[in-house]
Amino acid sequence: MLTHIHPLEPLSAGEVRQAVAILQNSGHVNSTTRFVSVSLKEPPKACIYGDIQTDQIDRDAFAVLFDNATNACHEAVVSLKENRLVSWKHIPGVQPTMTADEQVECEQAVLASPEFKAALKRQFGTDDTSLVMVDIWSAGNYGAPEESTRRMARPLCFMRADPTDNGYARPIEGIRPVVDLNEMRVIRVEEYGHWPLPPLPGNYASSRVPEKRPAIKPLEITQPEGPSFQVEGRVVRWQNWSLVVGFNAREGLTLHDIRYNDGGKERSILYRASLTEMVVPYGDPSATQFRKNAFDVGEYGMGMCANSLELGCDCLGLIHYFDADLTTSRGEPLTIKNAICMHEEDYGILWKHTDRRLPETPEVRRSRRLVISSVSTVENYEYGFFWHLYQDGNIQLELKLTGILSLGTLQPGETSKYGAMIAPQLYAPVHQHFFNVRLDFAVDGTNNSVQRVDVVQDEPGPANPHGNAFSAQATTLKTEKEARDHLNLQTARTWKVVNPNVRNALGSPVGYKFLPMDNSFPMAQPSAWWRKRAGFVDYHVWVTPFDETEQFAAGDYPNQSQGGDGLTKWTEQDRPIENTDLVFWYTFGHTHIPRPEDYPVMPTAYIGFLLKPNGFFTMNPANDVPPSPGKAPKGGCCH
Ligand code: NI
Repeated sequence: MLTHIHPLEPLSAGEVRQAVAILQNSGHVNSTTRFVSVSLKEPPKACIYGDIQTDQIDRDAFAVLFDNATNACHEAVVSLKENRLVSWKHIPGVQPTMTADEQVECEQAVLASPEFKAALKRQFGTDDTSLVMVDIWSAGNYGAPEESTRRMARPLCFMRADPTDNGYARPIEGIRPVVDLNEMRVIRVEEYGHWPLPPLPGNYASSRVPEKRPAIKPLEITQPEGPSFQVEGRVVRWQNWSLVVGFNAREGLTLHDIRYNDGGKERSILYRASLTEMVVPYGDPSATQFRKNAFDVGEYGMGMCANSLELGCDCLGLIHYFDADLTTSRGEPLTIKNAICMHEEDYGILWKHTDRRLPETPEVRRSRRLVISSVSTVENYEYGFFWHLYQDGNIQLELKLTGILSLGTLQPGETSKYGAMIAPQLYAPVHQHFFNVRLDFAVDGTNNSVQRVDVVQDEPGPANPHGNAFSAQATTLKTEKEARDHLNLQTARTWKVVNPNVRNALGSPVGYKFLPMDNSFPMAQPSAWWRKRAGFVDYHVWVTPFDETEQFAAGDYPNQSQGGDGLTKWTEQDRPIENTDLVFWYTFGHTHIPRPEDYPVMPTAYIGFLLKPNGFFTMNPANDVPPSPGKAPKGGCCH
């Protein structure tokens, strides 16, 4: 056992191997068992905020396993210290996240299927599947009995024009194989008609773009004295910040125990921050398209889909990489090298003022931010997760959406109001991307409250004779149901997480403001099947009292679920949330009406949110940032 390991650090490769071995020797695992995930079983919060000494904390692993032979899901806890199985629990009637191995095996099963080959022959005159791509898509749940009793996929298929072509430009619209993932075989092939393949190639690869613009001149980022962060295991310190960088197969990148050293005092802000779920529902009701929705966390595993990042391409500058230590579904070690990138970026002006009467003017400070990022490929789409820490106490999450649109084929000359034409016979259906982030706040301790802040105008009258009056009104939210709410542009609505037990120098509770950015409402009807399973899209903001079993906005097992789990269910209890250990959940949606410029590969789109200290500090905490050496010919400093 390492003695200095932070209790919230993810499992090391050795710990994953040990956990797998304990499970394999437990008598519960056989040749038909898949390891869906093996991750740290996080210790109680008291070990961070309470009296438990960190060197007394056991390292435990939590595993989700699935037996294809019995269609049964089990959760296990193992003690790494005692090298034994602690618990083994059957979770009836659920389908855990599909594994990366199943993606590959499902594709092979379809390509080898005589029924699929026969359909291909009927439609395209060939049964050669060597150019066919098969993307696993969960069957979801539309009320059919098989969707609740079998482990199923309804893959989408594409036909490359040649072995390195972009296959997504040629969707096979009329053929939909249905796969039983337990038997790993095609149980039927559904045919909906014949659509000829789109006639034109659409490729983004460098080798396929013959006429390139002249190369841009080099831009070198150098840090001759090294980075300004320190790393010890997974604990990072930078510019008064400290945090633990976590990772798991389901959520991908997670941040833990975020603190700010304020004049020698380590002040807690967030206990845990993570993406708990996301769903991408499509808006075309046609027979081949209406089933398209993807729960990219609960169905596919955002961490399992993470990329190995490359210096100079994904990340520029002086990089510190962290690996992700996972397991294959058969219990073999799976390490994603460089899954997390951490580096510093210059972020323009931190603050500036010119006083025309003073000789040493202006005063300018450069802003430096710490970027901790990860990128996942979920078949056609890419999602980038970029956490930013700033010198003025801001914390930001920026999501980057790129990759390849999920496309459909139309008949020659046909158009669809449910999508944009992007090439002849090729259209991109309208869709939305909804993300849910779980922010387990601990502003100066665990007991916090949430205020909804609305800016309202005063009525004209004797108290407002000039008509200019408006003010911010804070409402402290008392229960879960009261907290469920939407953004409101009319009142510039924000939320503030405060600690009513800790006052700042001005006598107000210390707090952090939550500032939403781009967002959307769901466009599908509440009766749409995907919405039943994604109740977290019903409100932008949810607040719950902390419960360690409530981790995922759509529940623990959204894959093929019939819905009703997660935030919608929990918050019906209407539990008190005032001055208690609380969790703030934020749902944010990007409504994507595609355009020709999103093809063949999509320029990055951005969405996210910002956390800003609000009465947490006495004054601008970045006032003490020293000036940078000036680079102007006359030399000097930026003051
Ligand atoms: Ni999109």
